Amino acid sequence: MSPEAVERWMSVFRRHAPRRTGTVLDLGSGIGRFTPALAETFGALVYGVEPSDRMRETAELSAAHPKVVYLPGKAERIPLPGGSCDLVLLYLVLHHVRDRPSAAADISRVLVPGGRVLIRGAFAGRMPMLPWHRYFPRGREIEEELFPSLPEVLDMFAVHGVRRIALERVRQRVAPSLAAYAERLRLRPYSTFEHLDDEDTAAGFAALEADVAAEREPAPVEEECDLLVLGS
Ligand SMILES: C[S@@+](CC[C@H](N)C(=O)[O-])C[C@H]1O[C@@H](n2cnc3c(N)ncnc32)[C@H](O)[C@@H]1O
Repeated sequence: MSPEAVERWMSVFRRHAPRRTGTVLDLGSGIGRFTPALAETFGALVYGVEPSDRMRETAELSAAHPKVVYLPGKAERIPLPGGSCDLVLLYLVLHHVRDRPSAAADISRVLVPGGRVLIRGAFAGRMPMLPWHRYFPRGREIEEELFPSLPEVLDMFAVHGVRRIALERVRQRVAPSLAAYAERLRLRPYSTFEHLDDEDTAAGFAALEADVAAEREPAPVEEECDLLVLGS
């Protein structure tokens, strides 16, 4: 993700954050794409909690920041005390979580009263048409099955007194051209690719390569996603 794209996300997060955001939890922080930027944006102490040792080690090396602490842990069992976080971010994480009701309980536990949970993802039943879905329609069907629905997520949190504050459709530029987008797709960056069979994969890439070859003027590729904001 480019620094400009990270900055655009920070301005979205800033709009939904509590006025006083002293502690942020980047839950499922991966290689720390957002973690230092969160510390800079909010001047906050940021915990990057990530279950994968390999990803956490990469974050510690490449996304270090004096106000960031990376910790092993997962959404179902967050290694932080109750009422310790003003803002919790789950960026493309919730659909990976195996035990989502336990995660909702533990996120609610660490949230301060008046705190906010930002869930960037997609929800079954209101899945946007992503650019790569055009080439891999089976991928979209698979994601409809893998991603939780919005009512499911809202119910999971509501039992802990954490309720819907806002739901925003965010549009973002993901590549400057179809050729650049294809370059990234060839690395099969989405875990959904693991669920596609060889035939669907080959057909998708053949159609994509044909469109790349036909691209005369580079046209930016944009996609939409949901940002769900919850609060106590
Ligand atoms: C698509 S990556 C997103 C990483 C990061 N949020 C970002 O946007 O760069 C999904 C992350 O969720 C993590 N993850 C998987 N299961 C998890 C769980 N139960 N609790 C917290 N994180 C989890 C993965 O290890 C991975 O780092």
